[in-house]
Amino acid sequence: MNQSASSILTLAVDIGGSGIKVIVLDSLGEPISERSRRKTPQPPTPEAVINTIMILAEAETFDRVAVGFPGVIRHGIVETAVNLENSWIGYDLANSLSQKLGKPVKVANDADIQGWGAISGQGVELVLTLGTGFGSALFIDGNLVPNLEMGHHPFRKGETYEEQLGRKALDKQGEKKWNSRLKKAIANLAHLFNYDYLYIGGGETKKINFELPANAKIVPNVAGLLGGIKLFK
Ligand code: BGC
Repeated sequence: MNQSASSILTLAVDIGGSGIKVIVLDSLGEPISERSRRKTPQPPTPEAVINTIMILAEAETFDRVAVGFPGVIRHGIVETAVNLENSWIGYDLANSLSQKLGKPVKVANDADIQGWGAISGQGVELVLTLGTGFGSALFIDGNLVPNLEMGHHPFRKGETYEEQLGRKALDKQGEKKWNSRLKKAIANLAHLFNYDYLYIGGGETKKINFELPANAKIVPNVAGLLGGIKLFK
């Protein structure tokens, strides 16, 4: 019997610098499982990360897989992986995981996926993610400009956005400094992109202690998984 389109299940995977998360989505993109998480293995080699995904996937039922990866992705292949390991560069993540799982796999940048889980689809929308790294994604009327890497762009004092606002900086400099830097970053990016709306996601958003501009909001972390459904649209 053919499986009807309405019952196609997607395993959404988010590979992060500190955790790997999965959830199962129905064909409308609604979650139908609890989110589960395991620590990112150390060192986070492709083999170790894939093994962790296999363990998480074992407990779930699904037909296809959407993966968010913390680096530049082109046609399923990893181009950069600043917060993981150099052996990722050139790694065909989509094909390797597809062979292991025996299911179709699509991969995109983690901030791009987070954006799909957050945006309204109208106007110029910028998405930032604050976690181990500094993620960014840009959408124009719901169309993605893929792999926007603001994180590694110069920001201030000879440092990039990620060097000033990534988890290492937060841990080293403390929340007060980090918040004042984040305020400056938002002001800079507002002038650069003249976006209609800004969405800020990622685990560190809970540390934000100032009032965001009226055209900005914090999005729940689960957006980094929910957006995965868009890889199959
Ligand atoms: C990477 C981005 C990624 C971000 C958040 C950065 O270091 O270069 O591709 O989206 O971290 O994980």
